[in-house]
Amino acid sequence: MCGIVGYLGNKQACDILIDALKRLEYRGYDSAGIAVWDNGAIATARQEGKVDDLRKAVSAGGFKGTLGLAHTRWATHGMPSERNAHPHTAGDVTVVHNGIIENYIEIKERLRKEGHTFLSDTDTEVIPHLVMRHVEEGRDFADAARAALRELKGSYAVGIIREKERTLVAAKKESPLIVGIGDEEYFIASDVPAILDRTKRFIFLEDNDVVILRDGLPVITDMEGNPVERAVSTITWTGAMAEKGGYKHFMLKEIFEQPRAIADTLIGRVTEEDGQLEFEDLSLPDLAKARKIWMVACGTSYHACMIGKHMIEANLRIPVETDIASEFRYRNPILEKGDVLVLISQSGETADTIAAMKEGKKRGIYTLGVCNVVGSTLARECDGVVFTHAGPEIGVASTKAFTTQISVLYMLMLYIGGKLHKMDRTRIKENIREMRTIPHKVQAILNGSGSIEEAARSFLTVKDFLYLGRGINYPAVQEGALKLKEISYIHAEAYAAGEMKHGPIALIDENLPVVVVSPNDSTYRKTCANIEEVLARRGKVLLFTDHESHEMASRVESVFTFPSTTYELQPVLSVIPLQLLAYHIANLLGTDVDQPRNLAKSVTVE
Ligand code: F6R
Repeated sequence: MCGIVGYLGNKQACDILIDALKRLEYRGYDSAGIAVWDNGAIATARQEGKVDDLRKAVSAGGFKGTLGLAHTRWATHGMPSERNAHPHTAGDVTVVHNGIIENYIEIKERLRKEGHTFLSDTDTEVIPHLVMRHVEEGRDFADAARAALRELKGSYAVGIIREKERTLVAAKKESPLIVGIGDEEYFIASDVPAILDRTKRFIFLEDNDVVILRDGLPVITDMEGNPVERAVSTITWTGAMAEKGGYKHFMLKEIFEQPRAIADTLIGRVTEEDGQLEFEDLSLPDLAKARKIWMVACGTSYHACMIGKHMIEANLRIPVETDIASEFRYRNPILEKGDVLVLISQSGETADTIAAMKEGKKRGIYTLGVCNVVGSTLARECDGVVFTHAGPEIGVASTKAFTTQISVLYMLMLYIGGKLHKMDRTRIKENIREMRTIPHKVQAILNGSGSIEEAARSFLTVKDFLYLGRGINYPAVQEGALKLKEISYIHAEAYAAGEMKHGPIALIDENLPVVVVSPNDSTYRKTCANIEEVLARRGKVLLFTDHESHEMASRVESVFTFPSTTYELQPVLSVIPLQLLAYHIANLLGTDVDQPRNLAKSVTVE
């Protein structure tokens, strides 16, 4: 999704802005642009393509100045092109925007009748025109910006500057925007990693906040101009955590960070000695007395919901209903008093997940966020929040967020089990002990992962994959298939293995690789039968198992083993080789692994 950065201070803005844009590349984009203010003039450059191309374009000079805005665009209205790239200008007002202006057509029509001319296909371009119009009415800049924003329907994070004054106005509604506070300098950004090397102090703006940055202290108001107070938070993530650290791609680094990320997610929350679990910000009565639990999310985070359902229903006998966030609120779900709505999101900014949270709050049920980003909308607005301590996830394809989400759900299961006396202390202690071994087991998989890279070489001309798994490993294979398709662009479908004969079996021939997760659990025999069915049709099976002597091992194309664990924790281990398989195929194909085409890291539009 679009990325916004802005700077006002005593250093040259251009390099600071371009460096910050580079750090937002992970969000996904198709074009980039910059505007730098200098003594009453604004120089702009924008173009289709990468931030590095923009850097080259501005290196010729002419971009001197200590105030500016920059933007990466992910096309929603209008093709990726120079004319649709941000910033957009009208009169002396220049704007960058993330979000969607829903009523832009009617505003455009109205302004056209008043004589305004538009140069792009974007919804954004109405914003500088509206601001300019209000400036011409005699309002001061901040007031004109607020008046313009009040006319907009939809979502936005905006940065606005004008030639006539050294001021940056920024605002947000349902799209993320933060303010960074440095030493006599200020930043705005869509996300913390963009400016983490510049400051650790941030203000997380709330919806309808407008911040006015000039030399001196920042002023924050509501849309009417009334002052509002916002706390300054200090972030503990370091800039280095958001760097590649010697890995070819962020995704590979993040796959290899999983032992640490899972261990960090457990730290301070589980004590094996007495079988206790502690969470920082959780309402005990609401969660422990839940009549029914809803788990709602998008994409990878939705797969974590499906795993949470398996764990909680099997062990606690509390019904769990899962839903894709974009479906949830439109189907009028039967939410009742005493229900708990768990919303899972790495970014905490996914528009559909935020909308689902708002639906839950409107219906008066307790909302619990499972989230990786401190200060994100989900983290701030849910009634309770449990953080995954994965650290910044930069690769668009989610990896360590997923395994830490499962870890949190596992801890929540133990926690509720203890509170409701549905699991005795001994069992909770045993489960905590097993959970503690998981980082080592993940490390063991990573250490022995060379054979996966070798195997990946055989599949570079393949067009389709089928993934099969059962029970708690069905969402794990769905996640494996999602990873493959999003970064390698190879079509991959995941099915519950027992469902294969109800349709997908028609696809099987000697050209179809079939990835099967088949652990040594109660589903083992059934999955062996499914493998037989694939082999009988000359399908090529890639078997992933914790069974030391899987009976199908000698008959399949390749076998990868992972350590054994309890049923509930299997997906944390089984998904690691699937992440690696997807990564190595994509890397060998030479795709843009960290920023796959058409994808955005933080999907802030519905
Ligand atoms: C897939 C992926 C996406 C996200 C989804 C939700 O690799 O990254 O499917 O999982 O967009 O994002 P969050 O978790 O930030 O709400």
